[in-house]
This record gives sequence, structure tokens and C-alpha cells, in this order.
Amino acid sequence: MQPPRNIVESLEQAGQAGVLRFWNDLDDEGRRRLARQLEAIDWAVFDDMRQAATAAVAEGVDPAFLSIASTPTGQRLSPDDCSAAAWRPAGEEALAVGQVGAILVAGGQGSRLRCDGPKGVYPIGPISQASLFEILLGRLAAIGQRYGRGVPLAIMTSSSTDAETKAYFEDHRFFGLDPDEVLFFRQADLPALSIDSLTMLLDAPDRIALAPDGHGGMLRALSAAGGLDWFARRGIEHVSSFQVDNPLASPLDPAFLGMHLVSDSDITTQVVEKREPDERVGVIVEAGGVCRVVEYSDLPEPLSRERLADGRLRFHAGSIAVHCFRLAFLAEAAAGKASLPLHLARKAVPFIDDSGERVSPTTPNAYKFERFIFDLFPLARRVTTVMIDPAEGFAPLKQPSGSTADSPEHVRRAMVTQARRLLSRVGVAVADGIDVELAPSIIDEFDLRHMTPGSRIERPCVVIGESVVSWGDGTPRSPI
Ligand code: UTP
Repeated sequence: MQPPRNIVESLEQAGQAGVLRFWNDLDDEGRRRLARQLEAIDWAVFDDMRQAATAAVAEGVDPAFLSIASTPTGQRLSPDDCSAAAWRPAGEEALAVGQVGAILVAGGQGSRLRCDGPKGVYPIGPISQASLFEILLGRLAAIGQRYGRGVPLAIMTSSSTDAETKAYFEDHRFFGLDPDEVLFFRQADLPALSIDSLTMLLDAPDRIALAPDGHGGMLRALSAAGGLDWFARRGIEHVSSFQVDNPLASPLDPAFLGMHLVSDSDITTQVVEKREPDERVGVIVEAGGVCRVVEYSDLPEPLSRERLADGRLRFHAGSIAVHCFRLAFLAEAAAGKASLPLHLARKAVPFIDDSGERVSPTTPNAYKFERFIFDLFPLARRVTTVMIDPAEGFAPLKQPSGSTADSPEHVRRAMVTQARRLLSRVGVAVADGIDVELAPSIIDEFDLRHMTPGSRIERPCVVIGESVVSWGDGTPRSPI
């Protein structure tokens, strides 16, 4: 069996015929597998990748630097903020009439956390060991119940996470969500390119090295899967997108949604105040009325250290990737010609060398390419930033246990602290050094209204609505 003619031609034109070097040694199944992968390559995107890589080599600087002007003055929104009272009813109304949908991006490989499977199955509940999916989607189900309308959810998977994510949803009965109101859609993969030669790497003799095309792959993949129409058919006008690795995320907070609606924005995005220059969050910047996000790794050090007269960092609006989009804006962006730009990262990617030996480099040898959701910002007519308290909405799980930031220990601590704070608001004290966890069904203090003020929690427990479930006897799983 010869390689299909059209594939050979495309590869030769792109200078990539080397990926067929083991073709004669492959069995039929291996040949079919490699051919399928190569057929799926979008050669126009491949050209863009090579151009992005060549520009990076030639200039070594991100053009976004040039347009950095200032940080937009976002409105501050916190539970104590009296103006939240004005926006909240608008958000609650939108939830009650079923105008709001959700998009969860869960296609990442979780390589820093060293996950084997989807990050969403990671057990993060401080006491219950509930997974990220159980926590985030259990809360989504609770919001649907509170407002009497389920929130349709589109979840983005990738070739790395798709099958396992779907099986996990089935095993957990969709966490209380209506399966008819959940849409899985899969993002595209892009090949990794050798830094030296800009050629594709082989992960095995019959397999090129591929990686998901970044969370910004969401727009194209959702549109291709019919997801924009899927939302529209359900009467959805706004969708909030969030990431799987932030168990405190509150993309459907009514005050946040209300600000989006009242400000009539194409995009409303949550930010936290970046306090130190080395915090690893991208910042929202504005130039000539156009908003964009600059990744922390792309912000030149001197700029990252500049401070305003009041002591805050000049670039202090840290993006936490919780965005509410007007659905019509997403549809316009998807229909437009311009695709989101490709960003490249230098990574150590294992590969098969010319002699067929597997090499596992310890330093970067390849470019990986990703699109970012926040590159939609410059296309928006109006972007509103909402400053939230990180203690209420941001605890990202990025790094493995024992790391200095964003580790499972940090995330669990943040969850316990938030639970203690909510309990104290309804007058329930928690003994020092005792861990407590809120079940996903508890959205805010309203769900704790039946607890007895003045009572005290003395043992580690998971609080489920009116009852307190004691824990700490070695029982391995939470019933939540
Ligand atoms: P990160 O950019 O932190 O990547 O993803 P990651 O895959 O979780 O972890 P590393 O970088 O390999 O260590 C932030 C969010 O974007 C999603 C992730 O699933 C997570 O919710 N994401 C990321 C995608 O959906 N697709 C991608 O291609 C990349």
C-alpha cells in the first residue's frame, strides 16, 4: 500500500515528506492511522504556524507589546459592594428566563499538574475528594435548580480528554445536569514543529506529535459542532465560559451577569488585582479603546514592575479566564474571516529520531501552537472588566503537590477558607485548624440560612445544605 497521492503532494509542497520515512516498515493498521492523521491537517493553518514560528525567530518579540497603553479602569464588584445590589436582579432575571448558557473548556493536557487523564477528574475536595468536574458542574446544576431553568452547558474536550470525560460524565450521571442540555464538542489538534527545522515530529513511527490547539480553539470547534445554533435554539443570548481548573469559579454569579447585561457588553470578564509583578496571570490592557490580554510571560519586566501613584501595579487587572459573551458576538466572530492568532510555546516534546529511537529531550526542542480565547477581546465593541475578590472566585490548580503556588494544597486551602467565611456570615463558627468544605449544592449564604447562628463546628465536615455531614473517619468518598 502506497501513501495516498494527495497526502504525498501536500507533504512535499510543505517540505514535510520526512514524516513518511517509516512508511515501508508499518503494517496496514499503522499506515491507515498515519494517513488519517495527515489527512486531517489543515494546510492553510499549517502555513500560518510556520509563519508564526518564522516571525518569532526573526523578531523575538511579541507585537502586542507595542500597543500596551494602560490598564482599563474596571468596576469593582464584591459581595459588599452596594452597587452589586443593582446588577444582581438583572442577572437573576436572565437566569430565571433561561437566557444564559455556559461553556466549560476542558481540553487541556494538564501537563504541569502531571495528570494522566482529564484535569476535571482530579480529586480536589479538601475532605470529600470530590473532583473538579463534580464541584463545578454540581454547582451549575444547583444554579439551574435555584432559578428554575437548567443552564445549557457546552463542554470542550480534545483528543487527549474526550473519551474519558464522556465516560466520567456517564458514570456520575451528569452531576445532576440534564444530559439533553449538555453538548460535548472537540477542539482540533495541531502538530508540533521542530525548532531547528520547522518540520513535524513523529511521536511514533505511525503517529505525528499533536497537541490541542489551545482554549481559543473553542470558537472554531463550537461553531463547527453546531454549538452556536444549539445555544440559540434554546433561547440563549449570553454564554459564560470558564476553565476546569478553578473550583472557585463563579461564571454564573448573578451580579457578574447583571453587569454584563446592564453595560450592554459583547464581553464581560472577571479580573483579580495583580499585586506583585511575578504573579503568573495575564493582564488586561487597553490601547486606543481596544482591549486585549497580555500573557504574564509576554509582559516586559520593567513594565510589569511599574506602579501607579496609589501603589497599585500599573498593569493590575489580572485575567482569570471567566468571560461572559454575547452569543451574537461569538456568532459574528465565528463567521468572520479572521481566525484567532496562533501563539507559540517552546516545549520539550519526545520524538522518534531518524534511526527510529525514541528521544526524550530535557530542553525545548519544539514549538507547540495554541489559540487563546482572550484574543476575541480586540474584536469586541465593548469589553467590561469586573474586579472580583480572588478569595471568592479564583484558585487555579496548575502545579503538582509541593509547588510554591497553584498546587492542590493551595487550592484546598482556598476552598476551606471560603467555606469558613461563608459559614461565619451566617453566624456559624469553625474551630481553629478544622477543615470544612461546602457541597457544590451550596451556591452562597442563602443555602446556609437554616443553619443555627451561634453554632460551632468542631470536626472536619462537608456542609450539605441544612445538615452537616461529619467526616474524618476514613470514609473515602463524599456522597455529594
Ligand atoms: P492551561 O492553559 O492552564 O493548560 O489551561 P492545561 O492543559 O490545563 O495545563 P498545562 O499548561 O498543560 O499544564 C487552562 C484551561 O484551558 C483549557 C484547560 O483544560 C483549562 O481548563 N484548555 C487548555 C483547553 O480546553 N484546551 C487547550 O488546548 C488548552
